[in-house]
Amino acid sequence: MAQLASSGTTVTLRVHRFSPKPARERDRARGSSPFARKASPFGDSPARAARRPRGKQWTQDYTLDVRGDETILDCLLRVKRTIDPTLMFRYSCGHGMCGSDAAAVNGTPTLLCKAKIGDWAQPERLVDAEGFRRTGSDAGEPADATNGADGLGVIELAPLPGFAVDRDLIADIDPMLEQIKRLKPYLIADGVLATTEDGKVDVLEYLQSPEQLAKYETLTTCIVCGACEGACPVYAGGEAFIGPAALINQARFIDDSRDEATCERLEAIDTADGIQACQSVRACSRECPVGIDVGEQIWQLIAQVKEREA
Ligand code: SF4
Ligand code: FES
Repeated sequence: MAQLASSGTTVTLRVHRFSPKPARERDRARGSSPFARKASPFGDSPARAARRPRGKQWTQDYTLDVRGDETILDCLLRVKRTIDPTLMFRYSCGHGMCGSDAAAVNGTPTLLCKAKIGDWAQPERLVDAEGFRRTGSDAGEPADATNGADGLGVIELAPLPGFAVDRDLIADIDPMLEQIKRLKPYLIADGVLATTEDGKVDVLEYLQSPEQLAKYETLTTCIVCGACEGACPVYAGGEAFIGPAALINQARFIDDSRDEATCERLEAIDTADGIQACQSVRACSRECPVGIDVGEQIWQLIAQVKEREA
């Protein structure tokens, strides 16, 4: 276990690590087996096979001194700079604007830059003689005292669920971006020619009242972090379901009074892998860091599609 000594309370970051097998090694392994190129007898699709991590996986603990109001991203940056430069994670803005650092914190999809240590640290769970895990306070005499975490306790970090893993905490979110792109994430409108005071054509205007703007404004705050996809039990890689993030993006344009492709957009999501695949679990709403009620929005899309069909 890597340790950084300094004063103050401590927390242990328990990081699920993954290092992919080099492509050369993978090819050699494939070439050496006559069965390697054949499809799985259990019907593994190429996309699912690609999602299965191939490489070395392990769990690594980093214990460091912290303040409870520090973010997990702050701590990971310290680990990377002072303890282990091989640890990989993704971030950009550092304050909830870019959506690039979503990961599973204690199993919950969350932005690392918004997650405070004090809110997520929990008592170490100990393994007793029967192999059951118990929290430190009620564990008594553990058979396998793997805690080593005084202070605030432990925070478990893993890559965003539902996506393939590139490396350590970095999930491959390309499928989500492709699904959003597929649904034309831009305004489809002709606009109105506006004129200057002397009657000359000036610019194209897209007129809208404050009430019309209010209808979709919250949806424009989506930062495409993928937390809703990671929380969705149906998404799981996006083969069977286009995913909540793509649907929210589509709702943003469907609810925009200036957009002229509403029918086309509703048709595009009324598919087996579109709204028909949504099971209304609504786990997506609980995890949105910008406060979009994702489940409710999808529910409204379903109602709009049904209305159109009636
Ligand atoms: S709807 Fe919320 S959780 Fe989903 S991608 Fe957008 S910001 Fe992230
Ligand atoms: S680093 Fe940009 S949202 Fe967290």
